[in-house]
Amino acid sequence: MKTGAIAIAALLSLTSLAHADEPENFIKYRQSMMTAIGGHNGAASQILRGKVAPPGHLAMHANALRDLASDLAALFPEGSDFGETKAKAEIWSDWSGFEKAAGDSKTATAAFAEAVAGGDAGNIEAAFKQVGETCKGCHKTYREKDD
Ligand code: HEC
Repeated sequence: MKTGAIAIAALLSLTSLAHADEPENFIKYRQSMMTAIGGHNGAASQILRGKVAPPGHLAMHANALRDLASDLAALFPEGSDFGETKAKAEIWSDWSGFEKAAGDSKTATAAFAEAVAGGDAGNIEAAFKQVGETCKGCHKTYREKDD
């Protein structure tokens, strides 16, 4: 039983080693991450528009956004620019601009989480608006428009 489990673990790690970090794997991964970011962003928006008020949830979404947006540039390794992706070639041809856009989002989501922790409604609203600006700012330049 024990050896069986070890053999399976070894097999799993071999399989993942063989496929880990192939650039194209990042396409699905970053789309999953972006979908998660979009989910928390949308949920936070519903709370801030007063549609629902589940206690503690705004902090949960703000903290999740802060964590999910903490390293966006890592989702776009070079070579992950073909196949089913809306990532534009400008990401890699203008990498420093893209890193800045990712950094802006990291800063804005961290500030949003802090504002929520602080509890001031005006600050929270302003910080959330700023988060939205950084999403739009990056998408406008580096993501293909929806057809
Ligand atoms: C630094 C750039 C950047 C920032 C900042 C950014 N995104 Fe994105 N986002 C992208 C790119 C590029 C894609 C397209 C990825 C692909 O198709 O491979 C994308 C895709 C998406 C998608 C579609 C995912 C899918 O399934 O195809 C959603 C939803 C999304 N982003 C939401 C957000 C939200 C909400 C924010 C802000 C909190 C945000 N993004 C911030 C670059 C960014």
